[in-house]
Amino acid sequence: MKIGLGSDHGGYNLKKEIANYLDEKGIEYVDFGPNNSLESVDYPIYGEKVADAVVNKEVDYGILCCGTGIGISLAANKVPGIRCAVVSDVFSAKMSKAHNDANMLSLGERVLGRGLALEIVEAWINTEFEGDRHSKRVDMIKEIEKKHSK
Ligand code: RB5
Repeated sequence: MKIGLGSDHGGYNLKKEIANYLDEKGIEYVDFGPNNSLESVDYPIYGEKVADAVVNKEVDYGILCCGTGIGISLAANKVPGIRCAVVSDVFSAKMSKAHNDANMLSLGERVLGRGLALEIVEAWINTEFEGDRHSKRVDMIKEIEKKHSK
């Protein structure tokens, strides 16, 4: 499994914690930036970069971090094919994969403590899409995307 990481300045430190966690677990990742926390950057740039990498299959999944997890997820979700879930608890992390087939996860550094954030990442990585009745609903989401893409 290969994961794409991205953040803005508000999520930079959490992204680094996640990178350390992935290193410890021996999980491959690519960090799409930014490369330092000092500069204020625009989260849509990094949300799009990681989302592009997921749809182009450079990576299998993406994990994003900003202050709340919200802005960067909104940007990622504009890329067709992306289902990016903003998550602040372990149950939702599991469900976002099991039922919604989320291919990206977004976390808020100003919302979550390090411990919970890493538990969420672990739960999300280790949960599989259940398919079955959920496939029909995910397909319906894809149809909406198609209908509204010009
Ligand atoms: C940056 O200050 C902050 O707005 C950003 O990290 C994020 O929380 C936006 O959704």
